[in-house]
Amino acid sequence: MIQLADADRTPDPIQYLAAAAATSAGVEYKRQFLDALDVQPGQVVLDIGCGPGTDLASVAVAVTDQGSVVGIDNDPDMLVEARRRMADFSWVELLAGDAHALPLGDACVDRARLDRVLQHIEDPRRVLADLRRVIRPGGMLGMAEPDWYTLAIDDTDVATSRAFTQFVADKVRNGAVGRQLARRATEAGFVVCGMSAAAMVFRDFVTAEQILGLRRNAARAVSAGELDGERAQRWLERLDRGPFLSTFTFFTVIAQVAS
Ligand SMILES: C[S@@+](CC[C@H](N)C(=O)[O-])C[C@H]1O[C@@H](n2cnc3c(N)ncnc32)[C@H](O)[C@@H]1O
Repeated sequence: MIQLADADRTPDPIQYLAAAAATSAGVEYKRQFLDALDVQPGQVVLDIGCGPGTDLASVAVAVTDQGSVVGIDNDPDMLVEARRRMADFSWVELLAGDAHALPLGDACVDRARLDRVLQHIEDPRRVLADLRRVIRPGGMLGMAEPDWYTLAIDDTDVATSRAFTQFVADKVRNGAVGRQLARRATEAGFVVCGMSAAAMVFRDFVTAEQILGLRRNAARAVSAGELDGERAQRWLERLDRGPFLSTFTFFTVIAQVAS
């Protein structure tokens, strides 16, 4: 029988990112996001919060060895894994750095991407201001973020689903940043030239458990007094039996520095 998980157990972040990128929803949005950024051979592309290098190879292929890719992350373990994965791409450089104060000169990149980074960032406004500085006139910024306050999970116990989704959204530092992307880009001086809001849909418990940590987060919500333990246990059992449905809205915005 499905059980509440250990509330203290956190998934390995590198394995988590690999699993998320391998879901059909992950593959699809990453492909569309790269297309929308219109990366061309010979360009300089920045991937801020590149993590273990999830997207560096596809960007490196798009710029070809005539261009260059700079991956930046503030987590040394992520950079070790990114360097391992990028060993065959001499035109990919990996830098330890903070997205709030990029270790780069002014107007030196053609494209920059932020893929699920702003949701975790202390000050998205400062990050966008620094990106405005490093992207050259005519260059473009792509941002992709979930809006955790749109998370919905179907169950007969609507109140427990709602308490769970509210708990998860509140735990993310900038849980509503997805819906804010276009406004924040405009406030930072970019011209928004494209956006999409797509429903990410999970119809099997196993994938949703991997991405949303249903058992772990339910246990945390119980510990925090936000969910009743027995009710949460029955909720999980019904979700596991199915039919299962969860969904949240995932936003992408493409913005340009006016030339
Ligand atoms: C959810 S992961 C996304 C990784 C990658 N973009 C992907 O799509 O797989 C967020 C990444 O942002 C990095 N990060 C968070 N805050 C940062 C900051 N202030 N400066 C640089 N990187 C940061 C984390 O270390 C992590 O690798």
